[in-house]
Amino acid sequence: MKAVAVIPGKANSIHLRDVPKPTVSDVTDGRGVLVKLLRVGVDGTDKEINAAEYGAPPPGDDYLIIGHESFGVVEEVGPQVTELQAGDYVVATVRRPGHSLYDQIGMYDMTTDDVYYERGINLRHGFLTEYFVDAPEYLIKVPQGLKAVGVLLEPTSVIEKGIAQAYEIQRRLRIWRPKRAAVLGAGTIGLLTTLALRIRGLEVCAFGRTKPPYFNADLIHHIGGCYHSTQDTTLVQEAHDHGPFDVIFEATGYSPLVFEAMNILGKNGVLILSSVTGGGRKVEVPADRINLGFVLGNKVVVGTVNANREYFEIGVKDLSQAELQWPGWLSKLLTHPVKGLESYKELMKTLTEAKGAIKVFCEVAEP
Ligand code: BGC
Ligand code: ZN
Repeated sequence: MKAVAVIPGKANSIHLRDVPKPTVSDVTDGRGVLVKLLRVGVDGTDKEINAAEYGAPPPGDDYLIIGHESFGVVEEVGPQVTELQAGDYVVATVRRPGHSLYDQIGMYDMTTDDVYYERGINLRHGFLTEYFVDAPEYLIKVPQGLKAVGVLLEPTSVIEKGIAQAYEIQRRLRIWRPKRAAVLGAGTIGLLTTLALRIRGLEVCAFGRTKPPYFNADLIHHIGGCYHSTQDTTLVQEAHDHGPFDVIFEATGYSPLVFEAMNILGKNGVLILSSVTGGGRKVEVPADRINLGFVLGNKVVVGTVNANREYFEIGVKDLSQAELQWPGWLSKLLTHPVKGLESYKELMKTLTEAKGAIKVFCEVAEP
């Protein structure tokens, strides 16, 4: 079968290759599930992997099949699988357990191991291919009604984890009624975060670089959020005008903003950091001021990566809620479909060059 792969460590090595089709017996104890891929999303991580800045092949292989944002349909299940059946739509989690305590209890997203295993990213093959096999523990069932937007579930799971972690941490306050949130970044992650926070009833100000008129700003307004271009205003200005933020979710990929966000976080507030920044950027910061604000304001900053099945399940709930409350809104995020695995060059070109792209994805097969 066809697969889109890279040679990790070699820039722009993306290529199409022929790999053996997996079978349900690849998973032990009759627990294999064979999934036919329908759609696979790509994001900044794939860009970095193809630029040889990130990613590693599974032991024994010199290539890595990329793609970690899956959506497919179950074609066959092993004799010991009761959770799923042929015809079910599913999305796979990305990380696979290592060895720490957290890995052993299904919280592989919180691993303390130095090495982590991620399908399509690090040491495990991904989903930009025709079929994959996995155990049902790693497969989340997507209701029929969400099949048009199911490819958004993996990025949604990542933001759901960040938000759930914030609520979990804020249990320290006994009562926490967050009113105002700032979302830094208005791309796919920023939009999905805005959505999840709007569903939870918060006022949301999203910040991006682009000046309106801007399609993403319209999307934010449609679900009752507001949008500010950082070319027109600053975080400090907005916090000054409207009052401090109870929650800030950072998803720009530009790490200096983290310290600005720390500066404008409200008392008892929580700042969630989700950008994977591989570079070596340095900035000068008002260290005493930030520290003082954190100490006197009992503030928290938390980093978050990846997601386990709990957060995918919360994602299914929020995507369903979104379809009911703002029908058609999620589909508008699916801006750039690219048909067929053999169009992998166009897929990468669209990912790196397309103006106004929100979600770029490969239509691997028809349902
Ligand atoms: C993926 C996460 C992953 C992270 C770090 C992101 O693009 O969506 O699942 O944990 O990259 O590799
Ligand atoms: Zn990703």
